Amino acid sequence: MTAFEPDEPSRPTGEAPFQPQPPDGEGDESTRPERPLELATRSIHGGMGRAQSGAPVVMPLYQSATFHGGGPGDEGELRYSRYGNNPNQELVGDRVAQLEGMEAGLAVGSGMAAIALTLLSLVRTGDHVVTSDRLYGATRLFMEEELPRRGVEVGWVDPENGERGWRDALRPRTRLLYLETPTNPTLRVHDPRVPAAVAREQRIPLVMDVTFASPMNFRAGEWGAEVAIHSATKYLGGHSDLIAGVVTGPRARIEEIQRMLRLYGPALDPHAAWLLDRGLRTLDVRIERHNRNALSLARWFQGRPGVDRVIYPGLPSHPDHELATRLLDGYGGMLGVELSGGVAATEGFCRSLRLAALAPSLGGVETLVSLPRLTSHRSMDAGARRAAGIGDGLVRISVGLEGLEDLTGEFERALAGARSASSRVSATPGQES
Ligand SMILES: Cc1ncc(COP(=O)(O)O)c(C=O)c1O
Repeated sequence: MTAFEPDEPSRPTGEAPFQPQPPDGEGDESTRPERPLELATRSIHGGMGRAQSGAPVVMPLYQSATFHGGGPGDEGELRYSRYGNNPNQELVGDRVAQLEGMEAGLAVGSGMAAIALTLLSLVRTGDHVVTSDRLYGATRLFMEEELPRRGVEVGWVDPENGERGWRDALRPRTRLLYLETPTNPTLRVHDPRVPAAVAREQRIPLVMDVTFASPMNFRAGEWGAEVAIHSATKYLGGHSDLIAGVVTGPRARIEEIQRMLRLYGPALDPHAAWLLDRGLRTLDVRIERHNRNALSLARWFQGRPGVDRVIYPGLPSHPDHELATRLLDGYGGMLGVELSGGVAATEGFCRSLRLAALAPSLGGVETLVSLPRLTSHRSMDAGARRAAGIGDGLVRISVGLEGLEDLTGEFERALAGARSASSRVSATPGQES
């Protein structure tokens, strides 16, 4: 194999294909920079540089662990796929950064790798972290167990308590604020401007996990976050066929996280990066359809027999509906349905599924159903779960891209299964429902 030529057309050149827009009214036609490309266009062309004759339209797969250097005394940049600088890894990191409107991005081996490396890059023994208490289960465990093991204390905030809550939790060595929104599985939408103002004042970063929204529905940097993290396993990849994570933010921070990647080693396999690139190209149309299907299904579930509550930020009944309408460009593809018959009803519901898979994860083209009490929140006892708004009858649905009538048919059948399972239980003396 020959080393890359500087003008090798199939590699990203690093040249930004879109330019920042000038403030209104500045510059005449000839000097005004081009307007920024739309998100849909960026998700397809971002990071690709200019094509030359004969160049492939799609970035080829560089399934290589290592790359030729320039020769003794002229190693150039050392490319080694664990470093996160394989061309496929670089392309997807760049693309997501461009979608988020961030300076730089780094693609790694999983969403948890992105979260862990980001946190580790920001703290040392004796430091302190302040986090929202509504977190994805593994992130919660990382905060509860892994950070304290390294001598890092964690302060927990209920984001409902507003600025006061964040401010009261600060300590002299607080190094970052952490927020996840929308949350899993109650889809609470928290206003990042509140912790962002506190973080700015303290000159520390606000780090956000924005997996549930995707950059098509929400761009954290526009609302004050310095670092935005995605489990790219979900909407960014979009086909339930890869595990990946991406972190975006200022270049200096991303370089520090990349240093952690080199040491801890959770690199993204080039083939998974290639698949992720392919997923990103259809992100806009997929998210549009996820948003539309989920909103229609949420409305459909409302008031149906056996349904106590429908949780969806696009419904006026959701506690954060107004805020979600202001912050989000779409309400997303995740939906919660609380069944009146509790555990038995959820079992009957799941047994009646034909199209939707009963599986953890989310954000793929296919509809997935999961029971938070058995998956994401199984480490909590029932009381703590209920306090967090997660009843025994809660079913989480990652609404896919199927036809809407097929989905309503599927859930009509599932609700019938739920009702008959819960009526069997209530007819049997001594059984809890
Ligand atoms: C909100 C959120 N963040 C992070 C993760 C972790 O992502 P991964 O499974 O890619 O490590 C998940 C996984 O479900 C998630 O839902």
